[in-house]
Amino acid sequence: MDSQPKASIAIEINGRTLRDEIDPRMLLVEFIRERARLTGTHVGCDTSYCGACTLLLDGRAVKSCTLLAVQADGCKVTTVEGLERAENLHPLQAAFARNHALQCGFCTPGFLMSAVQLLSDNPDPDDAAIRKGLAGNTCRCTGYVNIIAAVKDAAIQMRSS
Ligand code: FES
Ligand code: FES
Repeated sequence: MDSQPKASIAIEINGRTLRDEIDPRMLLVEFIRERARLTGTHVGCDTSYCGACTLLLDGRAVKSCTLLAVQADGCKVTTVEGLERAENLHPLQAAFARNHALQCGFCTPGFLMSAVQLLSDNPDPDDAAIRKGLAGNTCRCTGYVNIIAAVKDAAIQMRSS
């Protein structure tokens, strides 16, 4: 029998608040996938290495496998499912598609969320700044060249919109 007391949390996820009673040991990524049923946030490792679980917590990119869900209580989370606006792809999503910046796509949500923060901090990054901004994300398929091209492409689109 699990005698662990439950924790009450409320997290705004993609604009909608989800309240729940959870095991205080639940990871944020587990909460997002299992309670919010938003499975675009992936789990690719158990070492805080791959970045597949990256989402925005109060506007900052974090690896959600490194946080407890209770640490996000009262915060705003944006996942990859929250990037679309009015059924239009986010400019980064469109640029990833245009530049063939994914193959299997497993890493893509994490790259997109890190890139959102990168372009928010620096709307006109050069290659070195993009590599640094995405250093916490790993891709085993693409070789990164097209990912960098996609982020540059999105930056141009976003600056001109
Ligand atoms: S699942 Fe790999 S860093 Fe979070
Ligand atoms: S596209 Fe397959 S791991 Fe990145």
